[in-house]
Amino acid sequence: MSTVGTGRRFPQGFVWGAATAAFQIEGASTEDGRGRSIWDTLCERPGAILDGSDGTVACDHYHRWPADLDLLRSLGLSAYRFSISWPRIKPQGNGVIEERGLEFYDRLVDGMLERGIEPYATLYHWDLPQALEDKGGWTNRDTAYRFAEYAAVVQHRLGDRVRKWATMNEPWCSAFLGYASGEHAPGITDPVAAVTASHHLLLAHGLAAEVLHGGRRPAEVGIVPNLYRVTPQTGTERDVEAARRMDGMQNRWFLDPVLKGEYPADVVADLAHITDLSFVKDGDLGTISARLDWLGVNYYSSWIVRGLDAPRVPGPGERPTPWVGTDDVEIVPNGEQTTHMGWDIEPSGLTDTLVRLSQDYQPLPIYITENGSAWDDVLEDGAVHDHPRIDYLEQHVAAIHDAIDRGVDVRGYFAWSLLDNFEWAFGYTRRFGLVHVDYGTQERVVKASGRHYAAIAAENGLA
Ligand code: FCB
Repeated sequence: MSTVGTGRRFPQGFVWGAATAAFQIEGASTEDGRGRSIWDTLCERPGAILDGSDGTVACDHYHRWPADLDLLRSLGLSAYRFSISWPRIKPQGNGVIEERGLEFYDRLVDGMLERGIEPYATLYHWDLPQALEDKGGWTNRDTAYRFAEYAAVVQHRLGDRVRKWATMNEPWCSAFLGYASGEHAPGITDPVAAVTASHHLLLAHGLAAEVLHGGRRPAEVGIVPNLYRVTPQTGTERDVEAARRMDGMQNRWFLDPVLKGEYPADVVADLAHITDLSFVKDGDLGTISARLDWLGVNYYSSWIVRGLDAPRVPGPGERPTPWVGTDDVEIVPNGEQTTHMGWDIEPSGLTDTLVRLSQDYQPLPIYITENGSAWDDVLEDGAVHDHPRIDYLEQHVAAIHDAIDRGVDVRGYFAWSLLDNFEWAFGYTRRFGLVHVDYGTQERVVKASGRHYAAIAAENGLA
């Protein structure tokens, strides 16, 4: 059990930050030469986004970034994890560079440094140029090489001021929500395409890491998977086996190639009836597992799973499972309160995930690059009293402290998210922000959780 509130200070220099992503906040989707992204396209597909919304305005951060950086500063945060929009830099995904896109991130990074905020730049947070999707997107090996070129351009421009780079945000989502369940852009439902895409995303990570390390500026390169603790519902062989497979597809499929230079043999065997992995070429795993300076962990929830008697066939209008090859596995709710996303709240799953990383993989500095919760917030008399978000935050900060106590090298925490924003297929119906956004007026109001988080940052822990 977490002992919240009993005085847990973090190691000196622990980083307290907040995170966002370009498509979710920037808006200005046709300004300054920005090209179309796969999310612009998906938003136009009827029924794809819960409230029928899109990213044309979002939080209008493209114009309001100085005030947003002031907010970060006012919360006393020393780091900002943001993402760079590939279609702003390379509108067609080819060799043509849009100078105005680079200028925007130039100003943004300068704005952070002026306010004493360290930039943590993510190169890919899901907004692939549509022109590349038209050529097969992540199912096309060539996209990985285009990504490395884009990484080189960005580093050349920002590398004198940005040291911390993340290549891929949650490649599981890009591959399996994008190409297997079709819930995310590009909205394709083809299991073979999804597994192929997962490999090319990892290859793109490796190629970009090589480019970043080879630049003239020092670069600390990380990757950001979304990890879960997976527990069998019972000790039966069927449930244990279900947990092994889900953990394999969700966690190890991404961690093993990056940190061990191999795909997990058991998952390769699980997938054998779907694909022979012939898209994995000689040398790819060496590229994927080359030097990594830090690991980002996005953690929101954990799963209890059970094996079913027979594969579940999706009903009419229902999506196929994103966990390719696990149609006979079901996630069982833990029976307690869930967040507005319907996600179980499992802080101990974060401790266990971190401890597992340090036991099963090479030791590496870890940053919690995203963690947070959606609630049905109410703005009343200019205030949001989001106590459930405060509880979630405290429990997870305590869980990280537990992991540090157990020897895990965690260096920082980024709350998801600074602002309420466009929550992908949920549109604007789910609020994760420390700061409330009125999408009609674009007015920002710091929530109670924002002030609470500022106090945690100021105390360097839980008082
Ligand atoms: C993660 C995404 C992030 C945000 C949170 C809630 O999967 O990386 O963009 O949507 O979930």
